[in-house]
Amino acid sequence: MTAYEAIFSRRSVRKYKMELIPGDVFRQLDRFLEELVPLYPEIGWKFVVFNAMNDEGSTKGLFRVKAPYYLVCYTQDDANAGKQAGYLTEQVVLYLTARGIGTCYQGGAKAVVEDAPEGMKQRIVVALGYPLDQLYRESGKAKRHDITDICIFKEEPETEISRILTAARLAPSSVNSQPWRFVVYRNRIHVFARDNVISKLSVTKEMRDVDMGIMLYHMALTAEELWMDAVMVYQPQLAERKIRGNTYVMSMVVQK
Ligand SMILES: Cc1cc2nc3c(=O)[nH]c(=O)nc-3n(C[C@H](O)[C@H](O)[C@H](O)COP(=O)(O)O)c2cc1C
Repeated sequence: MTAYEAIFSRRSVRKYKMELIPGDVFRQLDRFLEELVPLYPEIGWKFVVFNAMNDEGSTKGLFRVKAPYYLVCYTQDDANAGKQAGYLTEQVVLYLTARGIGTCYQGGAKAVVEDAPEGMKQRIVVALGYPLDQLYRESGKAKRHDITDICIFKEEPETEISRILTAARLAPSSVNSQPWRFVVYRNRIHVFARDNVISKLSVTKEMRDVDMGIMLYHMALTAEELWMDAVMVYQPQLAERKIRGNTYVMSMVVQK
């Protein structure tokens, strides 16, 4: 299974075998972590994976899933830190899913195992391990909004643009909030994040940014899979336009 295929078959795994993952898998994961592609090259990041099998106290917080290992994403402080964390962490989640390892984002959890790397903060924790229940699910069974509920179609999109939206729609999000909204043209997609009352709280706003980063990675990976010449750009003139409770995030433009 490739990372792209994992977009369509992953699900959150909430029951794990309390079993060791071979050292070789972690050595390969370490090499993969060296190759991650950031959304914002200027924001530094670091991942830490730890074994929690004999240490129940190594994570704290709400809605935690008990797992043999946890992955922690740290980044430098920045207004875009949440999006950067989601974008990078989803690369790891899809990599692990494609290799038979289950994952579940842990929005309410904090790892208490070690000090944060110098100048960085914990952004998101992910539970991981071999699954006790299903690792995969057919994409049609994922509970998501219909594409017509999250998109405004201004023009008939090209096939590739439709495929990007299909992958974007399947992204996981905290409490399945699916905050992404899209304004779609033939060869470009403007991405917006839905503001709601709860997202004004700083903690939910942080998770919304992580959600948006995860979804943006699904878009980027699909564009790569389809060999598309696509770029993510920030169009400041759109940022000034508040569209009924939605904040502009960025645009994907296909160049031909
Ligand atoms: C940023 C983020 C935080 C999440 N936090 C939790 C959590 O604290 N506990 C939990 O059980 N699931 C958590 N989830 C998993 C979501 O509930 C799940 O992704 C969503 O319901 C969609 O289901 P799926 O992942 O099976 O497709 C989180 C997901 C994301 C993306």
